[in-house]
Amino acid sequence: MFQKTLSFDDVLLVPQMSSIKSRKEVDLSSTINEKVFKLPIISSPMDTVTGAEMAATMSENGGFGILHRYNSIVDQVEMVKKSNAANIGAAIGVTGDYLERARELTDAGVFVLCIDVAHGHHISVKSALANLRKHLGEDVVIMAGNVATAEAFNDLEDWGADVIRVGVGGGSICSTRIQTGHGVPTFHSVLSVALRAKRALIVADGGIKSAGDAVKSFAAGADFVMLGSLLAGTDESPGQIFSSNEGKKYKVYRGMASAEAQLDWKGEANSLEGISTTIPYKGSVKNMLSLLDQNIRSGFSYSGAVNLKDFQQKVK
Ligand code: IMP
Repeated sequence: MFQKTLSFDDVLLVPQMSSIKSRKEVDLSSTINEKVFKLPIISSPMDTVTGAEMAATMSENGGFGILHRYNSIVDQVEMVKKSNAANIGAAIGVTGDYLERARELTDAGVFVLCIDVAHGHHISVKSALANLRKHLGEDVVIMAGNVATAEAFNDLEDWGADVIRVGVGGGSICSTRIQTGHGVPTFHSVLSVALRAKRALIVADGGIKSAGDAVKSFAAGADFVMLGSLLAGTDESPGQIFSSNEGKKYKVYRGMASAEAQLDWKGEANSLEGISTTIPYKGSVKNMLSLLDQNIRSGFSYSGAVNLKDFQQKVK
């Protein structure tokens, strides 16, 4: 019934003997279906994180973005076109127009579809995966989630997901734990799914607030990390920059289950599991990604590791 779990802040990695002379020697790349991403970072499908500009910039810098789904099919396809069909992903739901949306998005050139729901260990995700496979075939890469346990991870693998978002209740703008009492620390979830993963790739998602937390996610077994707050508040995230009376610059960052996001998207708000907040303006996301890249490389080198696989074998 009760289980001890670990969160990012409960854990530190032990420095080990290293023969790496420069951070440049470290290869951070991670692969999905033979596509190589030299920076294993994905931007979240949220309306204050990933629009066309973020998706294009993420892929120019070695990662990729998932275009959010809180708009019409026409608008989402327009975002795909504006990203010049760079290596990008796009989110879909599990009800309503999701199949048509999926078809239009793959026709427009997205390489990964992301079934984006809060509670991914759900019968609706099973039927959506079956329908997507039936109508779109085996070639399209399907990401699904979010899940918190190894049982859920294995079920989604069996239902046909190729990549799975791991983390429930851990997001910086998430109030799922407060409103519903449910959730598992993301670090613990990643650790437990990595021990049982059979086929699908692991994306650590929610609560990654520093490069160090990303390094800890890779240590636990993640293939990629997904970031919301770290990439929000940049030039490339959707939304206005505004200034406080003291001259400080801010942007809005909000959970997709916040009242504000729900009202904008569907005109009513129910089952609130997120908050809307402001975060300091950070300038270009390119700089942010470059800092994360350097710090994650340093992280791998503290464990004497030259790449992700090496790191996951050596880390203590
Ligand atoms: P962050 O990087 O800690 O800010 O977390 C971002 C993640 O929070 C996203 O990738 C989603 O998995 C999750 N998320 C987005 N919106 C909401 C919400 O309204 N409630 C709970 N979780 C959310």
